[in-house]
Amino acid sequence: MKGESMDAIECIVTRKSIRKFLPGPVPKEILREVIAAALRSPSYLNTQPWEAVVVSGAKKDALAEMLAGLIERDAPVSSDLPKPGPWPAVNDARIKDNAAKRAQALGQNNSAPDFRKQVRIANSRFYGAPHGIFLYQDTTLPPWSLMDIGGFAQTLMLAAHAKGLGAVPQGYLTEYSPEVKAFLGIPESKRLVLGMSIGYPDLSAPAAKYQSPRASVDEIVRWVE
Ligand SMILES: Cc1cc2nc3c(=O)[nH]c(=O)nc-3n(C[C@H](O)[C@H](O)[C@H](O)COP(=O)(O)O)c2cc1C
Repeated sequence: MKGESMDAIECIVTRKSIRKFLPGPVPKEILREVIAAALRSPSYLNTQPWEAVVVSGAKKDALAEMLAGLIERDAPVSSDLPKPGPWPAVNDARIKDNAAKRAQALGQNNSAPDFRKQVRIANSRFYGAPHGIFLYQDTTLPPWSLMDIGGFAQTLMLAAHAKGLGAVPQGYLTEYSPEVKAFLGIPESKRLVLGMSIGYPDLSAPAAKYQSPRASVDEIVRWVE
């Protein structure tokens, strides 16, 4: 990776979800720079329908403990966004293909009885990252605004990658939306859209070598001319 001089296309195609981090924190100026870059994301009528909390240090650890505790005692989940699924067949096939390939690459046993719980707990612990970022927006905003905040999240992750950071977007971090919002002082009038772990990636981890598959251009595009 070329750091500051990374070409935009190289940055886009080499970004991937990072799920193992070095413990050291990211300097606040760098996090600010990455978030400032994300602020340039496009949005419907320039509404900029995104707000964020960055949680670090002892507060992040306490939040992780709270979430892990909820999962351990099987507390009922409550996301601000409806639980997805059932998925159309083509999308479902991609979920299963990625899960199988990833399990094989990492030597995981997806069918272990407590596998899902382990995954949820690893998510709740921010995969060991020094920082969590929570993205939220007003509940009265239209579906278009979900698209906008998704673009914001991707721009943030690309900027992070360009700066040598790693990140992973996490729907799991919204499973306990009311509890997370109360902990972080986010008003109930906001919907929690996405959590994210961010930090310096541990590139020695086996997962760092795995790249998730994609459909080809020809599978998803028809050229009408
Ligand atoms: C909205 C959204 C929610 C996601 N939630 C999670 C999650 O909770 N935990 C996780 O480990 N990865 C999560 N991911 C990451 C996806 O699994 C990942 O983006 C996908 O497998 C493609 O891999 P890549 O990001 O490495 O290219 C999420 C991604 C998106 C866009």
